[in-house]
Amino acid sequence: MTGGFALLLRVMKPPQPDLHALCHSHDLVDGGLACPFDVVYGGQTCRAFAIRYQGVVHAYLNRCSHVAMEMDWRPNHFFDLTGHRLVCASHGALFRPDTGACVGGPGRGPLIKIEVLEHDGVVFWRSQYNLQPVSF
Ligand code: FES
Repeated sequence: MTGGFALLLRVMKPPQPDLHALCHSHDLVDGGLACPFDVVYGGQTCRAFAIRYQGVVHAYLNRCSHVAMEMDWRPNHFFDLTGHRLVCASHGALFRPDTGACVGGPGRGPLIKIEVLEHDGVVFWRSQYNLQPVSF
């Protein structure tokens, strides 16, 4: 998180109380690097990531459905060379960027999707009963 974005978080209110600021909209380039963030999922602190694909932001837990390992092959790199699949670095499972559905390799189901929305140039993720922000 950049210093400017950390300052923005301190001064802005989210449009709804279950939304949590994640990054600036312009931080996510179509098919480019992901924006990482931390969540508490089922009581465990987990890494998550947001990407932009065909103009729309999507977010997932950074946890492969094959083995519960983080997937990026270099920090924040999730897209394969086609730019149309997310690839797990460990054994090559492939996932659709827009739904998280597994479409190749040894994955055992979809990625765990996190609801996101963009508002006034900021990307937010939405918490749920089993998905909460990390408290400091
Ligand atoms: S851990 Fe992701 S493909 Fe095996």
